[in-house]
Amino acid sequence: MSDLLSQKLYLASDLTDGEFAILIESDSFDEELRRLADLVRRSYYGTDVYVRGLIEISNYCRNDCYYCGIRRGNHFVERYRLTRGEILDCCRIGYELGYRTFVIQGGEDTFYSDEMICEIVSAIRELYVDCAITLSLGERSYRSYKSFFDSGANRYLLRHETADSEHYVKLHPPEMSLDNRKRCLFDLKRIGYQVGSGFMVGSPYQTTQNIIADLRFLQELQPAMVGIGSFISHHQTPFSNFRSGDLKLTLRLISILRLLFPYSLIPATTALGTIDPVGRELGILAGANVVMPNLSPVNVRKKYELYDNKICTGEEAAECRHCLTRRIASIGFNIVTNIGNVKEMKDKCS
Ligand code: 5AD
Ligand code: FES
Repeated sequence: MSDLLSQKLYLASDLTDGEFAILIESDSFDEELRRLADLVRRSYYGTDVYVRGLIEISNYCRNDCYYCGIRRGNHFVERYRLTRGEILDCCRIGYELGYRTFVIQGGEDTFYSDEMICEIVSAIRELYVDCAITLSLGERSYRSYKSFFDSGANRYLLRHETADSEHYVKLHPPEMSLDNRKRCLFDLKRIGYQVGSGFMVGSPYQTTQNIIADLRFLQELQPAMVGIGSFISHHQTPFSNFRSGDLKLTLRLISILRLLFPYSLIPATTALGTIDPVGRELGILAGANVVMPNLSPVNVRKKYELYDNKICTGEEAAECRHCLTRRIASIGFNIVTNIGNVKEMKDKCS
């Protein structure tokens, strides 16, 4: 039965809610899903894996999400901010290592005014004309997003976290809302960004129906990138006692996402690498085609701990670059020095 369902998903890039529920809840056909996802990925991207250099510019955050280690209520975190010069240093090192996309990520830090972000983006744009600039700075106004875009940013990552409003309330404090999150995502698309969204797998209280709502929301949004990773508990959050998300379910969902969105960019996330020593490799084999190694200065890495035991907090940028090249090669794929834009339907190679 599920075998037919994987075939149907492969051919139609869609299923009914009931069919999705069967696929999500059963592990019997993971191999078939993986095989088909791999086929689809190869037809769009071959064995290429894109890299994005992640620069974590600040761990200050005005939000208090119950799952996140750098939530404002966590008073044990030693807070930091990178200066414009430090951010540009990271880009220089990254460029030399072959990165052609920089992801500027941070907590929702009100210290950075729109003007400051625009200045940083313009400076990177001027120095690296052949690179994509991705921002991941949380919820802002249409005006702010537009000014960043006009300064040279091309992409924006903002996970919706969960598309079910009742579930959203269980993960976030009352001042946050799913409606605003969605508003941000559609604003970003309207402005012209390549948008990345996504959700955590196995977050507290998550049900199969919630996951189906996530897939439906993504179908509506049609993002260029979909990032998912297992929820991993952080010992200084209200969710410290919850179990982490399941690796197998996360991998199954990566395959399902590949079949739903054949053209999309899907990262094998750091969270996957944290719950399993070869989690990122398994993510690539399940259909992912992007990795996002850390480019932040080593002295701040441990401070950007969204969840416990996050990997790569002690390694230099070059070490991560070489480690990942080796890991990706070991499974028959190859990291490319390329801006790594999303392919459109018409770009399918075969
Ligand atoms: N476990 C896994 N992922 C997390 N994130 C935040 N906290 C956790 C956690 N405890 C994810 C969120 C956020 C992204 C930057 O990291 O999905 O959007
Ligand atoms: Fe960072 Fe392997 S990718 S140490």
